[in-house]
Amino acid sequence: MQAFLAFLNFFFFLFSFISSATALVIRAPSSSSSIKPSSSVASSTTVVAAATSPSSSAKPTFRAKARVLSQTGGIRANIDFTGYADGRGTYVKVEVYQGLMSDDAQGNGPYSYHIHTNPVSADGNCTSTKGHLDPLTVTDAVTCNPDDPSYCEEGDLSGKHGKMNGTTEGTVSAFGYTDDFLRFWPEQLSILGRSIVIHDRNKTRIACGNITSILDGTADESNQPTNKASTYVTKYPDASSATKANATTVSITRPALTLEEALFVNLTMVQSTVLMNGTQTVVELPTLVQINGTIPFNASAV
Ligand SMILES: *[C@@H]1O[C@H](CO)[C@@H](O)[C@H](O)[C@H]1NC(C)=O
Ligand SMILES: *[C@@H]1O[C@H](CO)[C@@H](O)[C@H](O)[C@H]1NC(C)=O
Ligand SMILES: *[C@@H]1O[C@H](CO)[C@@H](O)[C@H](O)[C@H]1NC(C)=O
Ligand SMILES: *[C@@H]1O[C@H](CO)[C@@H](O)[C@H](O)[C@H]1NC(C)=O
Ligand SMILES: *[C@@H]1O[C@H](CO)[C@@H](O)[C@H](O)[C@H]1NC(C)=O
Ligand SMILES: *[C@@H]1O[C@H](CO)[C@@H](O)[C@H](O)[C@H]1NC(C)=O
Ligand SMILES: *[C@@H]1O[C@H](CO)[C@@H](O)[C@H](O)[C@H]1NC(C)=O
Ligand SMILES: *[C@@H]1O[C@H](CO)[C@@H](O)[C@H](O)[C@H]1NC(C)=O
Ligand SMILES: *[C@@H]1O[C@H](CO)[C@@H](O)[C@H](O)[C@H]1NC(C)=O
Repeated sequence: MQAFLAFLNFFFFLFSFISSATALVIRAPSSSSSIKPSSSVASSTTVVAAATSPSSSAKPTFRAKARVLSQTGGIRANIDFTGYADGRGTYVKVEVYQGLMSDDAQGNGPYSYHIHTNPVSADGNCTSTKGHLDPLTVTDAVTCNPDDPSYCEEGDLSGKHGKMNGTTEGTVSAFGYTDDFLRFWPEQLSILGRSIVIHDRNKTRIACGNITSILDGTADESNQPTNKASTYVTKYPDASSATKANATTVSITRPALTLEEALFVNLTMVQSTVLMNGTQTVVELPTLVQINGTIPFNASAV
């Protein structure tokens, strides 16, 4: 609890820090090459690579699933997550069954989609999901560069892997990709107990769904949602991303570690020196530290 409070405190600290700094030079992307526009969409090769399940069947694997719906039922999509215990990235498979139109007179696409921190309220109102899963406080104000994903919000799936174009039928054929940063553990970084939100071009939240899994009791043996609270992720932020979006165009961020770099990590506050207003300043930043850990789930459920 204390760590969590410290985390929240830091948030306010960072927030006030950033809002008061006019010239804040923190990090440059490791490659100074072109930053892809946020409107970039999934390349067709990614889409073709899709549909099939991840190749290897090494055990154990960790599974979670989101059924994504609009409150009025017009949009229907599934997102499946498969994690591994050997350092491979988490495999994400996306399929849209209806509702993502490309030829809408309002030009609704392309569609971004993210993992949000909180579950969807029972009434399906996507506002309840709060902000993006962003344990390293990258903030929404920083455009995710897919070439440098260690500086993207963990939950920014479309930022890292491309937005979805709609189709005239409203369906999007199954496509998939590996994400080296999506983690089932530890709690602060876990995709369990979270939700998926699909956004319209104008960022309106048009559909959402809980991420459910047998691992944390949010799904049962037959993969149906239990609508129970996650037994693994129990601490949720109160603030929505709207607060974070107040951050300016730069962020003070430590890079995320890939699953291959560190299968077990701890999110801790680490003092770092950053250049702020031309002055070297020491700040505390949430940072991933490699630890020796054990898989936190009941082996019989894995
Ligand atoms: C940075 O400099 C500006 C202008 O001098 C000043 O208003 C602001 O308070 C400074 N921010 C920090 C964090 O020192
Ligand atoms: C999405 O639409 C844009 C604009 O028509 C196109 O350039 C892009 O290739 C499409 N992306 C996919 C994944 O089909
Ligand atoms: C999402 O999960 C929560 C439990 O975490 C549950 O209370 C809620 O009803 C679920 N929402 C939907 C739309 O199923
Ligand atoms: C969803 O919840 C938000 C915040 O509570 C509220 O402003 C909005 O009207 C709700 N939307 C619907 C469709 O109920
Ligand atoms: C954003 O898109 C939604 C869905 O098409 C629409 O209902 C809403 O009016 C739009 N909002 C703005 C500000 O254009
Ligand atoms: C963003 O900052 C402005 C000015 O500091 C403030 O009025 C507004 O309430 C903030 N928005 C949120 C969502 O916190
Ligand atoms: C993780 O970090 C927190 C805060 O720095 C610390 O209290 C805790 O002991 C660490 N846990 C592990 C397993 O290293
Ligand atoms: C993990 O355990 C090994 C063997 O006990 C030890 O050598 C190593 O320093 C530990 N690593 C960390 C990050 O604690
Ligand atoms: C592990 O799962 C099995 C089967 O689902 C269950 O009987 C057992 O109580 C669980 N153990 C713990 C510690 O959750």
